[in-house]
Amino acid sequence: MADQSRGNGVAHLDDERLVFELPPLPYGEKDLEPILSAETLKIHHGKHHARYVETLNRLLTEQNFSAHSLEDIVRIARGCGAQGVFNNAAQAWNHSFFWESMAPKVSKPSGALAAVVASEFGSLEGFRQRFCAEGAGHFGSGWVWLIAKRDKLEVISTHDAGTPILDEGVTPLLACDVWEHAYYIDYRQDRAGWLTSWSNLLANWHFAEAQYDAALGRGQSWHYPAPKKAHEG
Ligand SMILES: [Fe+2]
Repeated sequence: MADQSRGNGVAHLDDERLVFELPPLPYGEKDLEPILSAETLKIHHGKHHARYVETLNRLLTEQNFSAHSLEDIVRIARGCGAQGVFNNAAQAWNHSFFWESMAPKVSKPSGALAAVVASEFGSLEGFRQRFCAEGAGHFGSGWVWLIAKRDKLEVISTHDAGTPILDEGVTPLLACDVWEHAYYIDYRQDRAGWLTSWSNLLANWHFAEAQYDAALGRGQSWHYPAPKKAHEG
């Protein structure tokens, strides 16, 4: 049971240090080429994402807190103002969700999700225009999201490590990274080009459909892999 009395007043599990791992990419590093290069994926996943996970684990040890899920860490850190933990935990989560939001094979929404995309945005192309405009207009680093508020859809953006996962009644369906490190090797400064390519060719609508089902109460939404006990390696 979580002991709320130690560390920074946040959950600490007695004598059990848990560490988060960097999940592997759900596809090979070359599988998104030529839209996204193996060089970008190797650096983005193996350096940037890995660094967030490493820093998170260090901060959790230094600040003496832990929890059984990354989602709980994000929630606890935001609640108690542990900004460093929040930033690294949320970035670890956002990046894994981003990898799941892409697929090597072009897909389109179908079924209930296709119907709601058409009703909310006019068409799939209407969604793409809205998504790209949100990302291109987003000042600085951050993320563009397609989210469900129960059965309704919205396109939003968040700054830096911002994430919608803790917002009441919100289920993310897709995320695109608009930090420069996500696209600079392949698209240089052309964020709009990155977003256009992403929304036309990389967006994983099969994943979005599973998330939408979860938003409607059918099944579980995606979760970051559970942490392991430190001594398990
Ligand atoms: Fe990133």
